[in-house]
Amino acid sequence: MNAIEVENLTCAYGDKTILKDVSFSVKEREILFIIGGSGCGKSTLLRCMIGLLAPKSGEIRYFEKSFLNASEEEQRHILKSFGVLYQSNALWSSMTIAENIALPLEQYTTHTKTEIAEKVALKLEQVGLPGVQELYPRELSGGMKKRAALARALALDPKIVFFDEPTSGLDPVTARGMDDLILEVSKTFGTTMVIVSHELASIFSLAHRVILLDGEVQGIIAEGSPEKLAAERNDKRVANFFTNRKSNINPASFWGQCSNFKF
Ligand SMILES: Nc1ncnc2c1ncn2[C@@H]1O[C@H](COP(=O)(O)OP(=O)(O)OP(=O)(O)O)[C@@H](O)[C@H]1O
Ligand SMILES: [Mg+2]
Repeated sequence: MNAIEVENLTCAYGDKTILKDVSFSVKEREILFIIGGSGCGKSTLLRCMIGLLAPKSGEIRYFEKSFLNASEEEQRHILKSFGVLYQSNALWSSMTIAENIALPLEQYTTHTKTEIAEKVALKLEQVGLPGVQELYPRELSGGMKKRAALARALALDPKIVFFDEPTSGLDPVTARGMDDLILEVSKTFGTTMVIVSHELASIFSLAHRVILLDGEVQGIIAEGSPEKLAAERNDKRVANFFTNRKSNINPASFWGQCSNFKF
């Protein structure tokens, strides 16, 4: 079954169209990467998909149910099945890590305080951060903050998790640790993942499929496995995305060095 179907989606800010007639689908349990140059509309597409920005036209279906034409009650139900990890982590700095992770549980469930505390502890364990409940975000390293944000995204046992640049700002070894964790969550819970990223190492180690957006075309210019896209020689725009980054990392050898790394 398809977890997500996006059909002829047009996204705009006022009169400024960013994406036009974009269509793609994501299968259940699939890890889909959305890639493309800066400003091409990756975050905008994600915002439309999680209900933060109303698209100009088109349709989005989750597990075969319309999202855009759903009633408020149905939309709330669909939103409950998402986890989101924002580009900036979006942890509340004035709240402890436990309070941050408890937020969606307080908002969407009728769990008691004890049940919420148990769930928070479990989620922190799942992301490799046991016992940090009483710390504040500023007391965590960059990699730990990303993990805490993932624990919050997983709080409601989502069927789909959306990530905006989950490894940006992390050093390469910490970034690979985060990739390992994302893969482990996907395998353990069968979660469908939609990940916006520039990182070749992440793309090659995690992506089942990739869609490449282009700002000029205002849509998708290539779609397929990372290997297929990286071997593309006929379309300069596709080739550029991969070759321009090759000097930074050799994904195969780099991944080989880091695969035994445990956070
Ligand atoms: N709130 C907004 N109002 C108007 N224009 C916006 C708004 N947010 C983004 N844009 C514009 O929309 C375009 C796409 O932005 P978006 O943030 O989706 O790009 P992106 O692909 O995520 O880029 P990056 O890789 O830098 O994160 C850009 O031209 C940006 O300036
Ligand atoms: Mg962005």
